[in-house]
Amino acid sequence: MSLEAELQEKVNFLEQTHFANMNIIDDLNAERQKLENYQRAAINILEDLNSERRKMEYSQRATFNILQDYNLEKARLNDIQTAAINILEDFNLGKNRMEDAQRATINILEDFNLEKERAELANIELQERTDELKQSNAELEQFAYVSSHDLQEPLRMVASYVQLLENRYRDQLDDDARDFIHFASDGANRMQIMIKDLLQYSRVGSRGKPFESVDTEAALLQALSNLRLSINEKIASISNDPLPTITGDRSQISQLFQNLVGNAIKFGKQGESPFIHISVRKQKLAWQFSVEDKGIGLAREYFERIFVIFQRLHGYDKFGAAGGTGIGLAICKRIVERHGGRIWLESEPGKGSTFYFTIPRAEGDGGSRQ
Ligand SMILES: Nc1ncnc2c1ncn2[C@@H]1O[C@H](COP(=O)(O)OP(=O)(O)O)[C@@H](O)[C@H]1O
Ligand SMILES: [Mg+2]
Repeated sequence: MSLEAELQEKVNFLEQTHFANMNIIDDLNAERQKLENYQRAAINILEDLNSERRKMEYSQRATFNILQDYNLEKARLNDIQTAAINILEDFNLGKNRMEDAQRATINILEDFNLEKERAELANIELQERTDELKQSNAELEQFAYVSSHDLQEPLRMVASYVQLLENRYRDQLDDDARDFIHFASDGANRMQIMIKDLLQYSRVGSRGKPFESVDTEAALLQALSNLRLSINEKIASISNDPLPTITGDRSQISQLFQNLVGNAIKFGKQGESPFIHISVRKQKLAWQFSVEDKGIGLAREYFERIFVIFQRLHGYDKFGAAGGTGIGLAICKRIVERHGGRIWLESEPGKGSTFYFTIPRAEGDGGSRQ
């Protein structure tokens, strides 16, 4: 072969190789391009992954935070729950207590209502009794007045005829008959005194005078002047506080002092001269007077009985006719009650007695003279 042909062949070959190379390069380029694409895609994917991971991490953190918050919340909720339970328990306790208190209040109210009803009933009864008592008192007073008044006349007759019998036939009678007549006359005398007393007692209400201003010291002096004989006889020492002006019945107040001081003189210790003191205490609503002696006194069991009409403790024999009939304190009680006060005593046998009585203070009743 010619050189030229050989050359041509070589050129051709070279050209072919070149083309082949070119193709290969093209292919390679294409491959590289693809690879680059892949690489970019991979990078994208990686980037996406990263961003996903970040997101995941973020959400994980968020979840974690939420969890933490949740735990915190749960703890708080527990606390709240315990608090709520405590409150409920307290509330139940409070409710129980309230119920107890309510029940107690209801009980008290029921008791109170019962008491009120009872009190009202008792009040009605009391009013009825008071009315009855007033009625029977008035009747008794009337009865006592009429009977004692009407008894006086026939009794006077008995007494004077017995007296006549004694005077005119004394010499014709034997000792027994004289004794009998003496007993009869003595009995008639005592009965006359009792009837007089009964009349006096019944007159406390019926013959009472309208209330007026009473100087109680003057009333006491009047009583002492009436008692002059027995005061002198027993050599009694009598003293008194300055006494106030009150509202009442002058002669009844005087009689009250006379009966009390008279008793204090009468029931003195044998062989001793009586010491008697009259005092007064100003209370909120009343004057409280007292008559105190150092006499024989009396036991507590008799404190009520002695205010009952014709009740005496000390025998007729011992104190004689001067001993009275046992009506003095009954009259005192009626007088004090007519004035709206009360009367009582403190006493001990052998130590003496103090009789107290109150007289309500009317408006305008001045102070004592102290
Ligand atoms: N000051 C006193 N000390 C002791 N006993 C008294 C006193 N005052 C009254 N008494 C007793 O109370 C009784 C009743 O008194 P009273 O009604 O005045 O009746 P009387 O004076 O007629 O006996 C008296 O008999 C006496 O036993
Ligand atoms: Mg008397």
